[in-house]
Amino acid sequence: MLQRIILSLLLFASGPVPGETVAVIGTGNVGMALGTEFAALDHTVIYGSRNPESEKTKALVEKTRNATAALPAAAAAQADVIVLAVPGMATESVVKTLCDLSGKIIIDPTNPLIVEGDPPTFTYGTDRSLGEIVQEAHPDAFVVKAFNTINWRLMIDPPTPPPVIPLAGDNAEAKEQVAEWVRAMGLDSVDVGGIYHARATEYLILMMLNNSFTGSEKFEVVFQPAD
Ligand SMILES: NC(=O)c1ccc[n+]([C@@H]2O[C@H](COP(=O)([O-])OP(=O)(O)OC[C@H]3O[C@@H](n4cnc5c(N)ncnc54)[C@H](OP(=O)(O)O)[C@@H]3O)[C@@H](O)[C@H]2O)c1
Repeated sequence: MLQRIILSLLLFASGPVPGETVAVIGTGNVGMALGTEFAALDHTVIYGSRNPESEKTKALVEKTRNATAALPAAAAAQADVIVLAVPGMATESVVKTLCDLSGKIIIDPTNPLIVEGDPPTFTYGTDRSLGEIVQEAHPDAFVVKAFNTINWRLMIDPPTPPPVIPLAGDNAEAKEQVAEWVRAMGLDSVDVGGIYHARATEYLILMMLNNSFTGSEKFEVVFQPAD
């Protein structure tokens, strides 16, 4: 007990432990979901928007605890962690506009989807995964493919038992850190291996979307930890 009191006094004396500064690039559904979730975990959120002064971005900043907005490159430059919540087919050009992100964690929820027709059919829009493209653009950053297999609504309001999301990335510590944030958001995760395996997770969402719109027999694919 005495030890706990001394520890609390020491923590009080040194001030609150600061959270990370998280740049959330993109202010659509996924940006809003992950931005508000990171803010709820006491991190400082900077939205990276092409229009930081727009009414839409201002409304999102207002709704997010402890948040600001800036242009994407300025947001990423100030952050320890970058979340890429941008359209899949814009991801490569967006990441190339960001400064040197060496040593930072990049969380990549993007999927390279091209959609055509009614009912919609989806095709894969790149020759390799976006996870790999982002890692190539920032070779000394720690890219973790995450959140790309679940709908944004589940990021905010996960059901019980929580969905298990795959994490792909070449750096084990970065994946462990992301897994911790995922757990704190009420979700679960499995480590599926290196960033090469981002391909499988991106194709998976393509297959599931095509099945949900045009498949004759509906299915869903779930991850679960094995014994
Ligand atoms: N929707 C889901 O449930 C879901 C789930 C998992 C993964 N994903 C993936 O996550 C990514 C974001 O999805 P989302 O649903 O949040 O998309 P969204 O609603 O369309 O939002 C994307 C945001 O990216 C920014 N952006 C930057 N460059 C852009 C460009 N060239 N064109 C259009 N917008 C641009 C925009 O914010 P500013 O205008 O502020 O710049 C925009 O609001 C996608 O790659 C998607 O495949 C989506």
